[in-house]
Amino acid sequence: MSAPPARAAGRTVAFRGELLDFSDDPRRDARALRHLPDGLLVVRDGVVERCEPADTALATLPPGTPVTDLRGCLVVPGFVDAHVHYAQTDVIASHGHALLDWLENYTFPAEARFADPAHARATAEFFLDQLLRNGTTTAAVFATSHPASVDAFFAAAHARRLRMVCGKVMMDRHCPEALRDTAAGAFHDSAALIERWHGRGRLAYAVTPRFAPTSSDAQLEAAARLLDRYPGVRLQTHVAENDAEIRWVAELHPWSRSYLDVYDRFGLVREGTLFAHCIHLDDADWARLAGARSVAVHCPTSNTFLGSGLFDYERAHAANAPVALATDVGGGTSFGMLATMHEAYKVARLAGNDFDGLDAFYLATLGGARALGFADRIGSFARGRDADFVVLDPRATPLLARRTGLARTLEERLFVLLTLADDRAVAQTYVLGEPALPAR
Ligand code: GUN
Ligand code: FE
Repeated sequence: MSAPPARAAGRTVAFRGELLDFSDDPRRDARALRHLPDGLLVVRDGVVERCEPADTALATLPPGTPVTDLRGCLVVPGFVDAHVHYAQTDVIASHGHALLDWLENYTFPAEARFADPAHARATAEFFLDQLLRNGTTTAAVFATSHPASVDAFFAAAHARRLRMVCGKVMMDRHCPEALRDTAAGAFHDSAALIERWHGRGRLAYAVTPRFAPTSSDAQLEAAARLLDRYPGVRLQTHVAENDAEIRWVAELHPWSRSYLDVYDRFGLVREGTLFAHCIHLDDADWARLAGARSVAVHCPTSNTFLGSGLFDYERAHAANAPVALATDVGGGTSFGMLATMHEAYKVARLAGNDFDGLDAFYLATLGGARALGFADRIGSFARGRDADFVVLDPRATPLLARRTGLARTLEERLFVLLTLADDRAVAQTYVLGEPALPAR
């Protein structure tokens, strides 16, 4: 596999517009928000060199530096989707089932089609197009149990020079034969994929046991051995999503104190482990997850669509647990992190809580970058970060223009955007300082 297309070295470009980023969770530190109403982002060789007020920065910009004028738009770091299934692109909007039936009736048949590498390649391209048109530049992605589905995804992401995490689904029981692997086979296939892809370009591997019901004890042990053997490789899975699922896990592991405890017994509750859903955790689980610095991944559109339940952000925050936000397509109903923020707000309201624009934009940028172990590379406009960013046009539709025009504060404007905006408001998505969408 060739290297991604090279760019000329020593190239400096600048972007002028309203800039917003975070240096920490704004709930913990009110000064963590940086907002430059007229800012300049200076990018050298795809990496942020400076992010400053435009008036001072323009005065010291080397003569001849091209400045892209993005005034009138809000520029934020590229969104991070911390849990999504590229192989479920065609499952999105499948009507009328809770998790276990939905898996059997829609998801497993769709994933079986990924035995065909041509289907995997075409779907990976479509999926990445969807992410980019929604402003998402990094994601933690489930492929299928077919190793070639991971090759197809990573090859497509690498060619676009994207920072992406992906892994082969490990699944050796309670699933159709066409998707079933074995503990030993999944170990060897995952190891080969790690050797081939992890650390190449901006790619990283995640060991991916689907969830406890579909992995034997031997396979969960194999997952832990992969993590021991390959430091820096993450683990992603699902936990405590749905009542019937949780009862099933209790039947399969009568010795376990809780669903999370099953993963803990096999050594998988580790720093950086991405646990999607975390809806039905108890206090002991939250303390354990937070203590291990594992990540609770909030998937609000999936959880309302499948009727799984309401994630408790207040409780996660009180436990000091790392949290990220994710679409979980195809259980989730949108590729957009804006729609995902919107649903997170509604989920909070249904529990009588709040979730504001700052919470939302933090989680979708730096929060997600931290969750994926990339906070030193992406998620903000701090010097040295990869220049992955999204340009949001608050006047993209007549309603957006009217309503954002009435907003008096930054928080209000962010809230209007997350409530009303969709991919039409994504004027451009930049990857390493280069536009990734066709000009409109
Ligand atoms: N639990 C196990 N597999 C899946 C999946 O594909 N989607 C969701 N939402 N939950 C799961
Ligand atoms: Fe999922």
